[in-house]
Amino acid sequence: MYHKNKFINDLLFLIKKVVGKGEHQLHEPLFRGNEIKYLKKTILTNYVSSVGKFVEKFEDKIKKFTKSKYCISVINCTEALHLSLVACGIKKNDEVIVPSITFAGTANAIVYAGAIPHFVDSEFESLGIDPLKLEIYLEKIAVKKGHFYYNKKTKRRISGIIPVHIFGNICKINEIINIAKKYNLLVIEDAAEALGSFYNKKHAGTFGLVGCISFNGNKIITTGGGGAIVTNNKYLAKKIKHLSTTAKVSHAYEYIHDAVGYNFRMSNINAALGCAQMENLNKFLKSKRKLFLKYCSEFSKNANIMIIKNPINSKSNNWLNTIFIKNLSIKTKKEILTIAHKNKIYLRPVWRPLHKLSHFKSMPRMSLDQANTIYASCINLPSSAFYF
Ligand SMILES: Cc1ncc(COP(=O)(O)O)c(C=O)c1O
Repeated sequence: MYHKNKFINDLLFLIKKVVGKGEHQLHEPLFRGNEIKYLKKTILTNYVSSVGKFVEKFEDKIKKFTKSKYCISVINCTEALHLSLVACGIKKNDEVIVPSITFAGTANAIVYAGAIPHFVDSEFESLGIDPLKLEIYLEKIAVKKGHFYYNKKTKRRISGIIPVHIFGNICKINEIINIAKKYNLLVIEDAAEALGSFYNKKHAGTFGLVGCISFNGNKIITTGGGGAIVTNNKYLAKKIKHLSTTAKVSHAYEYIHDAVGYNFRMSNINAALGCAQMENLNKFLKSKRKLFLKYCSEFSKNANIMIIKNPINSKSNNWLNTIFIKNLSIKTKKEILTIAHKNKIYLRPVWRPLHKLSHFKSMPRMSLDQANTIYASCINLPSSAFYF
């Protein structure tokens, strides 16, 4: 189809044309605002832990940006997902639908909550759950008993679904929500990578019952490590906040806890960093949009490469730019990655599909041929916010 070595050379040439010569990480944080000033303030005021003005300020900023009524900031997005599953009422041994193409943390959170990940396939436009395939599948495998649906084979209740907005691209969220309504599934959105992504002007993470965002060092903004849960549901917001603070009952001096809670609250230090980062989010989004458009224009010149574009009616934060290479084998993909790394261009593959990991091999799943093709054919490009 194409000459392999020439193809790899052309690919690296195009990438360098966009990002320039030198070393290029996949995604680096950018600290060019009030980060040091706010961090200093936490130390000078002695408020470094989970109580402090920056925590509230950061939550207000996330609420305002995502137009959510409530926001609870926590230590990372994996625990945001875990806490959300528990608070929403996912029970031990329930099955929760999750794409096989996602970061391991999404499925780990299901296991932490005592439930079982049930892997489903993804589609090529958004790289998120394929709703057409999902609907046909559920019709075949789910049976209704009372209000709820059960897996005919395992007899377990299918109680939730975690749609993931992969690399900041909005998945087919409306279609997925409609399926969830039909099958009475709780929707916990994994918007870990999607701060700044919108579908029909509505922010990622605000379609489901709750949405979870990550502020890990590699995300569009970072708090060092951190996550947030956004929701419009007052009862859930209260429950999540309570559970995240060891279920401690408010009292002037007594230690009273009314449940087995978690110590998941974000610290003031992390939130201080987040406040400074949020002040520059719109700048980061603009810069990343320009980088995406430049990649689009350069890669349009190569018929074997397709850049993953923003799905219809959506605006992605362009967190990671992804290319799909026609007829790529896993072996050639490895060669591309090895040569790119030797050239200090730190391209990354898409995650190995989770159903292929040894500890998830026995989990229920549909046929996952598209997930396997996405894994074989997609590569992520350097995508930091500082190129433009
Ligand atoms: C899709 C997805 N879900 C969940 C997570 C977990 O986020 P965190 O690293 O904040 O725990 C990540 C982080 O990389 C992610 O990419």
